[in-house]
Amino acid sequence: MTTIVVNGMERRYDGDPEMPLLWYLRDELGLTGTKFGCGVAACGACTIHLDGMAVRACQTPISAAAGLTVTTIEGLSPDGNHPVQAAWRELNVSQCGYCQPGQIMQASALLKETPNPRDEDIDNAMSGNLCRCGTYPRIRAAIKQAAKGVRP
Ligand code: FES
Ligand code: FES
Repeated sequence: MTTIVVNGMERRYDGDPEMPLLWYLRDELGLTGTKFGCGVAACGACTIHLDGMAVRACQTPISAAAGLTVTTIEGLSPDGNHPVQAAWRELNVSQCGYCQPGQIMQASALLKETPNPRDEDIDNAMSGNLCRCGTYPRIRAAIKQAAKGVRP
């Protein structure tokens, strides 16, 4: 039996502990905001927070999350108004939108760690999150805008 807290709710899972967390979130809990892209930790579409750290759910077995706190895009804020989400809306970052939950989860983890990121901090943190629509300039601008909202 694996116990995980997902978006503030305790969950118990007694299936294969090596199953990717991504399958559990999407197929068993119905949290489909976390996307499946590559399945090999190469695109960032499945990014979630594990105890506040950005990780790739496609390459994280459920066993690695035992006793830890998982946050998905659905649980990032109670009302969708996390500073990163607000900045994303204000700057119309999304195009097709497929990569954006992962981008937002990666960006929010960055700002938690580095509230006032330099360009190179953003590049380093976001380089593993791909966007086929090429929204990178808006992502960078939105992270800078969101930083104003999360600074102490
Ligand atoms: S689906 Fe996990 S990194 Fe691409
Ligand atoms: S907005 Fe389409 S892949 Fe990023």
